[in-house]
Amino acid sequence: MDRIPGHPVDPLFPRRWSPRAMAGTPLQRAQLLTLLEAARWSPSGGNGQPWRFVYALRDTPAFAPFLAALVPGNQAWAHRAGALVLLAARTLRDDGKPALSAAFDAGAAWMALALQGTISGLAVHAMAGFDREAIRIAAALAAGVEPQVMIAIGVHGRLEDLPEAQRAREQPSDRLAVEAFASEAISS
Ligand SMILES: Cc1cc2nc3c(=O)[nH]c(=O)nc-3n(C[C@H](O)[C@H](O)[C@H](O)COP(=O)(O)O)c2cc1C
Repeated sequence: MDRIPGHPVDPLFPRRWSPRAMAGTPLQRAQLLTLLEAARWSPSGGNGQPWRFVYALRDTPAFAPFLAALVPGNQAWAHRAGALVLLAARTLRDDGKPALSAAFDAGAAWMALALQGTISGLAVHAMAGFDREAIRIAAALAAGVEPQVMIAIGVHGRLEDLPEAQRAREQPSDRLAVEAFASEAISS
């Protein structure tokens, strides 16, 4: 489908989407670092920067355990990614108190990474479908750092690169209109 904005917006926003078709080619470390650099400049509560990324480049030994942590439906296409990335958040502060905006801040970092991925011409796809304990071990997460999402990043592939069952939904999705999720406060 064509994504038609209802209000003027930079074309980058509707252009970003989550493809599953990936070419199965390696991602250069420098390409990935560009995406992580974009994430670096995200805002966070108190500038706490609680996001933690652990990445596994294709054709390195870390890739297999990262892939194995995904649910089968995600493994079915993400095995062709050039890198699999865990985005975790440091949910405990140094003083032992909870960092209340950690997940929110990590979400901002994800979006910066995803938008830079679009600008870089890469396919970037977030996944909540993974085994949290498996990825904790694979990514050697410290206590107080909680997995948020895994991210597949790769060179765009072809429809044929996907299992047949996943081909039909390989297209950008629509959204609710702004008016459906934003309303003006009623003044009393
Ligand atoms: C937190 C989060 C978890 C997601 N989990 C999965 C997942 O496990 N598998 C999958 O194929 N897509 C997953 N997605 C992709 C969403 O389905 C997708 O972002 C949504 O349908 C909107 O489509 P778009 O990103 O193409 O605009 C996830 C996205 C987010 C932000």
